[in-house]
Amino acid sequence: MTSVDESPTSAFDPKHDPPWWRQAVVYQIYPRSFADSNGDGIGDIPGITSRVDYLAKLGIDAVWLSPFYPSELADGGYDVADYRDVDPRLGTLADFDELVAALHAHTLRVVIDIVPNHTSDQHVWFQEALRAGPGSAARDRYIFRDGTGLDGSKPPSDWQSFFGGSAWERVDDGQWYLHHFATEQPDLNWDNRDVHDDFLYTLRFWGDRGVDGFRIDVAHMLTKDLTEPLPTHAELQLIPRDGKHPTLDRDDVHDVYAEWRAVFDSYDPPRTAVAEAWVDRERVPLYASPESLGQAFNFDLLQADFDPEQFRRIVTDNLDLAAQSGSSSTWVLSNHDVTRHATRYGLPHPPREKDGWLTVKHGIEWVLAGGPADAIDLPGGARRARAATLFVLGLPGSAYLYQGEELGLHEVATIPDDARQDPTFFRTGGTDGLGRDGCRVPLPWEESGESFGFGSGGAHLPQPGWFAEHAVAREEKDATSSLAMYRRALTLRHSLQSGERLEWIETRDPTVLRYRRPNGWEVVTNFGVGEYPLDRADVVLSSGPVRLGVVPGETTVWLAPCEEY
Ligand code: GLC
Ligand code: CA
Repeated sequence: MTSVDESPTSAFDPKHDPPWWRQAVVYQIYPRSFADSNGDGIGDIPGITSRVDYLAKLGIDAVWLSPFYPSELADGGYDVADYRDVDPRLGTLADFDELVAALHAHTLRVVIDIVPNHTSDQHVWFQEALRAGPGSAARDRYIFRDGTGLDGSKPPSDWQSFFGGSAWERVDDGQWYLHHFATEQPDLNWDNRDVHDDFLYTLRFWGDRGVDGFRIDVAHMLTKDLTEPLPTHAELQLIPRDGKHPTLDRDDVHDVYAEWRAVFDSYDPPRTAVAEAWVDRERVPLYASPESLGQAFNFDLLQADFDPEQFRRIVTDNLDLAAQSGSSSTWVLSNHDVTRHATRYGLPHPPREKDGWLTVKHGIEWVLAGGPADAIDLPGGARRARAATLFVLGLPGSAYLYQGEELGLHEVATIPDDARQDPTFFRTGGTDGLGRDGCRVPLPWEESGESFGFGSGGAHLPQPGWFAEHAVAREEKDATSSLAMYRRALTLRHSLQSGERLEWIETRDPTVLRYRRPNGWEVVTNFGVGEYPLDRADVVLSSGPVRLGVVPGETTVWLAPCEEY
């Protein structure tokens, strides 16, 4: 009998490790809300460094840092003013190097965010484009057009930004520029060679600093065909997304990634990338293929209900897609763009009227605006979230966790309007939902004190009193806490992960899913509310209280093969 290895993986050896990312657990940090080292209310790089022990103890394999670059914060840092520096409010490049060294010393890899569809309007290139005027080489790096109407005072088209309002903004000399997101995020022109060269330089800049991988923001949007006449907004929605759409998921975006691939592969071990690409399922493998970015997020579970039929279909489908691309699958339940999953699973019927992440961020608003507020079942949501998490952590492929989910945090729905920061809230006058601030509230580290231990000078988004119940310090003392469950799961996962396959075991109960990994580990999730009888007694982990011989409702258990004990 061998025992389960509780120690973290030994120091990584690039020459002998299989590609580390294939079954990695990657923990997303939203730097401004993780830990504040200097009491200015904003999380920063030294703050993250001060918590590296926490990250190591969690049992993750890598950290993904959302943007920490200089930014006016028109979109939470996704408006980048300089791709090769650290926002002075968050630290310096030396602080960044120190963080990377500390993470590497704990055998944790580092993934950073690259935002290539748009820059900030504060970026030197955009400032230069404004000064240089129409027809200049500087303007050609962006997408400037003359207006329509007799005096050019109407935008070139009626396209709408994803954040609400027109996708065109007029500048002083009368021209208009395209921005698919906030006004402060002008889209780059990927037909321009400078743009290609600059991003290649940026990738090498960070690759040389020891960054292990890159998360590519809206990876499906870079290249565009803006041949005139431009289609109307309504027409744009109807054009098939077959690789030739004017703005989305074009085949030629992979020419960009082929160039990037050469950079990634020039390192040993090769740098990795994961695409944030909201595209039709059959087109996901294009991004995940080894010639392109190598891995792509799968957002299906993030948009699904806590429902066995949906979960099973999504898992089968995505393992199939991953096999087609030669990549591994990815699993995501929460990130910085959507309502936290503990809250989503407490909603009676999340609305589905919109596509992509816009759908999921609407959960709470629906209840607050339309349904009765007590329709949110917070304890039930938390219970289902834990069950879903253990279901996901047992799957083959890599799992992306979002800071705070390990604490079982709920979405914060009570941020006053004047404290909100998300442009999706302001650009729609709040009519299109509360935006994404509710999942970006600074983490609670201590049960009491200034900003629950986030920092000594308050928090840039207000934390609710109930954060005390989820504080790291409290959960560390409680063997039944969400944090304790995550730690145990991530430790056991080193034994559980084996070949990237699973076998479904028929349960004869439509509310129960059960799968087996090639090395004999099994995961059983009871999505129903009744008890499910269990034929084995070797439960090594459960998402809630269990009794011998049954899996209670809304609970997941992990079963270890007998020879492990
Ligand atoms: C991605 C990011 C989101 C950002 C948008 C524009 O979807 O995840 O936070 O607002 O891109 O950069
Ligand atoms: Ca700070």
